[in-house]
Amino acid sequence: MAVEEDSAQVSEAQIAVHWREEEYIQPPAHFIGQANAADPAILERFKEEHFPECFKEYADLLSWDSYWHTTLDTSNPPFWKWFVGGKLNACYNCVDRHLPTRRNKAAIIWVPEPEDQETRAITYQELYRQVNEMAALLRDFAGVKTGDRVTLHLPMTPELPVTMLALARLGVIHSEVFGGFSGAACGERIADSSSRILITMDGYYRNGELGDHKVKADQALDRARQEGQEVDKVLVWRRHPGQYASKSPMVEGRDFFIDELLPRYRGAVVEPVSMPAEAPLFLMYTSGTTGRPKGAQHSTGGYLAYVTGTSKYYQDIHPEDTYWCLADIGWITGHSYIVYGPLALGATSVMYEGVPTYPDPGRAWRIAERLGVNIFHTAPTTIRMLRKVGPDEPRKYNYHFKHMTTVGEPIEPEVWRWYHEVVGKGEAVIVDTWWQTENGGFLGSTLPALQAMKPGSCGPGVLGVYPVIYDENREVVAAGSGRAGNMCIRNPWPGIFQTIWGQPDRFVQIYYQKYCRNRESTDWRDWPYFSGDGAVQAADGYFRILGRVDDVINVAGHRLGTKELESATITVPEVAEAAAVPVVDELRGRAVEIYVSLKPGIAASKEVEEKVSMAIETEIGKIARPKNVWIVQDMPKTRSGKIMRRVIAGISNFTDVGDTTTLANPEIVDEIRHHVQSQKMSSGEAPRELSAEEAEEIKAFGQVE
Ligand code: WTA
Repeated sequence: MAVEEDSAQVSEAQIAVHWREEEYIQPPAHFIGQANAADPAILERFKEEHFPECFKEYADLLSWDSYWHTTLDTSNPPFWKWFVGGKLNACYNCVDRHLPTRRNKAAIIWVPEPEDQETRAITYQELYRQVNEMAALLRDFAGVKTGDRVTLHLPMTPELPVTMLALARLGVIHSEVFGGFSGAACGERIADSSSRILITMDGYYRNGELGDHKVKADQALDRARQEGQEVDKVLVWRRHPGQYASKSPMVEGRDFFIDELLPRYRGAVVEPVSMPAEAPLFLMYTSGTTGRPKGAQHSTGGYLAYVTGTSKYYQDIHPEDTYWCLADIGWITGHSYIVYGPLALGATSVMYEGVPTYPDPGRAWRIAERLGVNIFHTAPTTIRMLRKVGPDEPRKYNYHFKHMTTVGEPIEPEVWRWYHEVVGKGEAVIVDTWWQTENGGFLGSTLPALQAMKPGSCGPGVLGVYPVIYDENREVVAAGSGRAGNMCIRNPWPGIFQTIWGQPDRFVQIYYQKYCRNRESTDWRDWPYFSGDGAVQAADGYFRILGRVDDVINVAGHRLGTKELESATITVPEVAEAAAVPVVDELRGRAVEIYVSLKPGIAASKEVEEKVSMAIETEIGKIARPKNVWIVQDMPKTRSGKIMRRVIAGISNFTDVGDTTTLANPEIVDEIRHHVQSQKMSSGEAPRELSAEEAEEIKAFGQVE
């Protein structure tokens, strides 16, 4: 904490929150009858007294080249090591080992966005072929070696999992950047991971348009070069092999079409490289409290065991199920629960290229009907959108889900009920899974056949994970107290990330420093994990996640750091200072508003506002585009010069701005309020009255250093 007046505010995060306690909803009998985890004995097996050996049960779902000798090594906290001594290959586990029994079963069913283009079913045998050929190309043409990092900027087509698995086969660390991110954002991640190879695609369909994606590769390489990283080769998949969808020229000697190279490797077989359990499998970049993105480094053995175990028990995936996770593989949800978890179990994983409401609100349900999807997985923002555009649409289609997941943001009980009654037709069990990029897999959820659902609450800690809520004084906030605090996990689990790529000190500082009891201790009990989320725990042990307590804004399930948004904003030459705040948004959960003050002598104009929006689009991507850009005379500041984001967040959301008497310039508050709120009123943008939790979140915004 920089200044005293701020620390007084921190306790606001702990203020009591009140909400209506929701009723339990029991899983249907037909679900329980077939569930992978239907015997309550499993809850006993994962009790704390059996930790960490309980996770042997997850690791035993995998095929190991050599078995491990130490389940959990805590000798260098908090750099936990799982399944030490074990060796395995992730690609072998997701592909090869299914060939004897499931060679002809679909591993991936891919649905292109244009409805007149054919759905593609890729069997395990076909996946094996494609992955081997791609692995041979990567090794022999691109020259990648075990331990290298390779950046992928690929959309939702089968080439993405094929490329990931081919790299995993070689023991190369993949770093997939969400396709919707800008070239600049991709370039930063290339530089941060020192990748010498970029794998991209010429274009892909979104909302009926085949967009130019390769152009971003050129921008990415420029940005990477500015940051000191040269890329040797750009490998380009083509959405329609043989036809180039981009206007961006192919650079001789640097850019290559993968479909032209692959025939050289026809029938190649590449031996999977046996990797230590602790070898990194991939990096997944995420936003934090400072501008530089954090590359969450995930392990091979611990990660794969964890996503396989949670896919089996929480997603309830059986090999004969048709499982559809409507996330993007460019996010952690897609890595864990479209690719690695389902394929390790030998399931059929459905992938969809485009927008779920294209060309009409029935699209998602048509896909479900046609493919016989019986497990469905998506985010509240998508559920809200589907509900808005087609509240009665699901009834028109003859599909039946046994299981549905919600992930990524808190879900309002009302939206939860629509999901349950209309999308799930009252027949499906729902799991609300709380977790983060850093966590590898679920941390809070109900076990679907054994623990009742409660709308709006994720449930208790998952098997082998023991959460706790601490307050700012490191005291436990008791279940049932009605008080909110910081959501923490007391113990390590196999899916936990190993470090922030290249920033081990920051890893310790962000996630462990706050609640570490003894820096010298090698006992995991002294090293609780701090999630950065606020939560309350009901008397029954269920957690309700309230949102971020740090400077991260969750827009439609995408984490955006305020610092990232602000750094992008100040690339506009007219801008002197910038502050990003969340506003409650009916569809996206939260949206971003940017406040800027301009350099002396520069007048406010629509043009500057548009420049700010464009800068954010260029630096981060369209998903981060602000809802409004407010040009103000000055920012409300503390006497030490810190921008008080909570004050402007209050203004944007029409909530109480709290105490402003300690500001250096309290008079500015009314001026900004008048300016912003009158414009919002006249454009019909005033939000509905916020719930108690929403108001708390806004009030607590921007207070944690
Ligand atoms: C939020 C996504 C409420 C939370 C897997 C977390 C949730 C952030 C839930 C991580 C949920 C995720 N209920 N909030 N079920 N799941 N969150 O890293 O604030 O993209 O910290 O990982 O999303 O987002 P990330």
